[in-house]
Amino acid sequence: MSNEAKLELDGKTFTLPTLTGSENEKAVDISALRANTGYITIDDGYGNTGSCTSNITFIDGDKGILRYRGIPIEELAEKSNFVETAYLIIYGELPNHAQLKKFSDLFTENQYLHEDMKFHFQGFPGGAHPMAILSAMINAASCFDDDLMRWQWGRNKQFDIYVARLLSQVRTIAAYSYRKSKGLPLIYPKQSYKYTANFLHMLFSTPYEDFELKPEVVKALDLIFLLHADHEQNCSTSTVRMVASSQANLFASCAAGVCALWGPLHGGANQAVLEMLAQIHKEGDDGSKFITAAKDKNSGKKLMGFGHRVYKNHDPRAKIIKKACDEVLSKLHITDPLLDIAKKLEEAALKDPYFVERKLYPNVDFYSGIIMRAIGIPVEMFTVIFAIGRMPGWIANYKEIMEEPKSRIYRPRQIYTGKTINEFVPLDKRK
Ligand code: COA
Repeated sequence: MSNEAKLELDGKTFTLPTLTGSENEKAVDISALRANTGYITIDDGYGNTGSCTSNITFIDGDKGILRYRGIPIEELAEKSNFVETAYLIIYGELPNHAQLKKFSDLFTENQYLHEDMKFHFQGFPGGAHPMAILSAMINAASCFDDDLMRWQWGRNKQFDIYVARLLSQVRTIAAYSYRKSKGLPLIYPKQSYKYTANFLHMLFSTPYEDFELKPEVVKALDLIFLLHADHEQNCSTSTVRMVASSQANLFASCAAGVCALWGPLHGGANQAVLEMLAQIHKEGDDGSKFITAAKDKNSGKKLMGFGHRVYKNHDPRAKIIKKACDEVLSKLHITDPLLDIAKKLEEAALKDPYFVERKLYPNVDFYSGIIMRAIGIPVEMFTVIFAIGRMPGWIANYKEIMEEPKSRIYRPRQIYTGKTINEFVPLDKRK
């Protein structure tokens, strides 16, 4: 069977090459389409467009599969932790003892922000959203490094240090951004704490008393970071690649990813889930009225935490996190009316033909919000937690695009549907 595609246009037949990925995913290569035919393709929302080839993450949305560098997410969730998984995602292999130690040591060496950055934090108004502070401060952090300011891939020998600095400092910036938004004094990281424990310490300790680090709380948050660590060419990762394709530096590219993640249809969904549950609770609804509204296109409501562009089966991360959610709540002896509403919504939606026919299942955000609430993370920090978790994926995609010898600047086309040539009318003659 031919592995070329044939396209008939304007009475002529064109041949288009195809390619097959390592998991048998198939694509028609249209790179030369415009040059050969004068046509471009239109794919609103990029649902059928492969913007790159990538070795990092594999998703089969119909089967509910997610693997980082070939390793199933279920196995990583059970046997690994966020820092080790970050190494795997960025460098392609699980680290040995020496590599892991070096990676962790670099985190510790690079965790402190430049002292002058404190003045930048002070400039934000009290109500600033931590995602706005996070993206601005990641960009600002790059201004304190001459090499980053004169970034040129290949000339820069210190990529590993920048990787560790970004991964380590995103946590420091995230914690500071929250404390700033609450008018609380900044808490410095501790040398002896591991990644996730240190973040909780910077978030919740006071100058007088260290936050009590319950192992189940640290474990649950570390799991949330790990489950979010990469997810193929989603909105924020494509944004990072888009910015990186112009050869912008690592920090600038990832700061753009934070902005893309902020929206409620992407990373902001975990915050939106909690707000939805709180609203349902406040209105005395058990979820049934809300389900009816979510099915009505005119209501402006959606069942947040349900549906996914890629998963048309269970989101494998949602299964893992649902189990973790039950464990954390029972270990911490927490009963939460919002969790009861969430369970009712899930039960009702999974039986409802509207959701079944559209293959709308709970996604990772549906339960991560409930865990974060249980462990005391404030709602406005939910998307920031997602951003910390997603950083390894953004860095790995950045690295991949930089290492691709044939990489070109991303520059999609469009079909113009506006006015054709139009007359300029002087101001005093306009109606
Ligand atoms: N609640 C109610 N209806 C939903 C829905 C939801 N959460 N998600 C999708 N639908 C409906 C759409 O209205 C559409 O209905 P139609 O076929 O009658 O027009 C159908 O399901 C297909 O949805 P579509 O908009 O094509 O899906 P998408 O791939 O463009 O969007 C999401 C995917 C994730 C943006 C979308 O499901 C959503 O907004 N979910 C809620 C937000 C969320 O949880 N985001 C986190 C993603 S990890």
